[in-house]
Amino acid sequence: MDNQNTTIAIIGATGATGKFVLQNALQRNFNIKVLARTPQKLDKYKDKIEIIKGSVSDLDTVKNLVEGCDVVLSSLGTNKKPNYIVEKGVEVILKAIQSSNSKPRFIHMSAVGLGDSLIQCRKSWLWTFIVKVTFPLIGSEIFADMERAEKLISQAKDIKSVIMRAAILNNKPARGYMVRNSNEPAGKMFISREDIANFMLDSVTDTSFDGKAVSLFSS
Ligand SMILES: NC(=O)c1ccc[n+]([C@@H]2O[C@H](COP(=O)([O-])OP(=O)(O)OC[C@H]3O[C@@H](n4cnc5c(N)ncnc54)[C@H](OP(=O)(O)O)[C@@H]3O)[C@@H](O)[C@H]2O)c1
Repeated sequence: MDNQNTTIAIIGATGATGKFVLQNALQRNFNIKVLARTPQKLDKYKDKIEIIKGSVSDLDTVKNLVEGCDVVLSSLGTNKKPNYIVEKGVEVILKAIQSSNSKPRFIHMSAVGLGDSLIQCRKSWLWTFIVKVTFPLIGSEIFADMERAEKLISQAKDIKSVIMRAAILNNKPARGYMVRNSNEPAGKMFISREDIANFMLDSVTDTSFDGKAVSLFSS
């Protein structure tokens, strides 16, 4: 598929990871639709992308976003308790994809330690510590919200999806990523948000992880 003939929807483009997703998508010359609650945050890109104003919790808005798209990329989230949004947002995104004519694939950002990646974490003292100590400090409910979202995606068998579970994020330059299944060893603690964006954009054209939940570590 030619990138110029591929339309992607980005959810979370105003966020710390999503800004790299958007920049990377622009570099690769995709047609880009973006959901933003505050479009002014994306003013410098407004001539290059289509911005749909609104919240991911609004079904009509998200239907408008995903219609005509080939792939939906989401780095949705919030750390402002108690406005957990990932489960609700994913529920709406899945409904919008199901009712669309274009039936886009869905690349969703989650976190290492959730779902069956817990098995992988338990085999590593570092990741055992992160899950047991760091998760509750950040807020267990944030992770519970993300885990419920993962379940919704796994249940939506009619949608081609990738659940990408990221290690702990930082803003350092990309250094390459490593994709691991849950039966493989966990990797380094930190990964660059730029590497996350690289994986998400690589997955627009590489369908080898469709139907899977994978962990992403720095190489
Ligand atoms: N921190 C870590 O180490 C780590 C590790 C793995 C996974 N994660 C998860 O990865 C995700 C992305 O992380 P991040 O640091 O990039 O998050 P972030 O900077 O907080 O970005 C979240 C994005 O979601 C958008 N958003 C929130 N509520 C929305 C709504 N109702 N409608 C539409 N958009 C909405 C925000 O838009 P606004 O600009 O409108 O607020 C923002 O663009 C989060 O779910 C996070 O929990 C984090």
